[in-house]
Amino acid sequence: MSWFKQVLSSTIGKKIIMSLTGLFLISFLIVHLSGNMLLFKDDEGEAFNLYAEFMTTNPLIRIISIVLYAGIIIHVIYSLILSLHNKKARPVGYAEARPQQNSSWKSRNMGILGLIILIFLLIHMRSFWYEMHFGSVPTKSYAGVEVDDLYTVVVAAFSQWWYAGFYVLAMIGLAFHLSHGFWSAFQTLGLNHRKFMPMIKKISLLFAIVVPLLFASMPVYFFIKSLA
Ligand code: HEM
Repeated sequence: MSWFKQVLSSTIGKKIIMSLTGLFLISFLIVHLSGNMLLFKDDEGEAFNLYAEFMTTNPLIRIISIVLYAGIIIHVIYSLILSLHNKKARPVGYAEARPQQNSSWKSRNMGILGLIILIFLLIHMRSFWYEMHFGSVPTKSYAGVEVDDLYTVVVAAFSQWWYAGFYVLAMIGLAFHLSHGFWSAFQTLGLNHRKFMPMIKKISLLFAIVVPLLFASMPVYFFIKSLA
């Protein structure tokens, strides 16, 4: 077996893959959040629609999107492989285990939190991504250029209380998943130097609060706006 194959089939190799794909997905979240913040611009969705058009038609971004889908799939598959492996290695569990004392609630429930995010993603992609690529999204013209009016699709989706509420709940799940996943990725990659780890943990917590909070503010804002 080659060195690379050997690393991939080891537990640490699988954890490294989880960490690298996780950090890549985190970088996607920053880009996606920055673009979506254009939804708050008071221009009837022009900036957001033009941004979405660029993101879905630019050839380089389309290639990055394919890498992103692959990143999501690999992250999910390796999480399943690792949890099956852990179950096989310890089918009965330790008699004296005190999980509450030895690990945090988040670290023990990363799988469940990940599943919540996966369900969120499937529903999210169906609502926006699928509609944009295969559905019938209304169009708008800006300076003679006709683009999909995704802003109207987002506004309509978030005017439904259950849909907006589902997003807020999913973002709480995302917050917990990130608050453990972010720093633990650094630890797996061996970047857990005594000097830097407290700072990485602080940045991780800040990221896990701010990013999901800003994402959740979108459905909340548009739901409240729809009541007016
Ligand atoms: C809550 C506010 C959010 C809004 C308004 C929103 C909106 C959108 C829209 C309009 C699209 C389709 C256009 C595009 O492909 O760029 C999209 C795609 C996508 N969203 Fe979101 N999103 C939100 C949150 C999230 C979150 C929290 C995640 C991940 C946990 C996420 C993951 C994705 C993914 C993976 C795609 C496909 C991207 C691609 O095809 O390159 N979104 N989102």
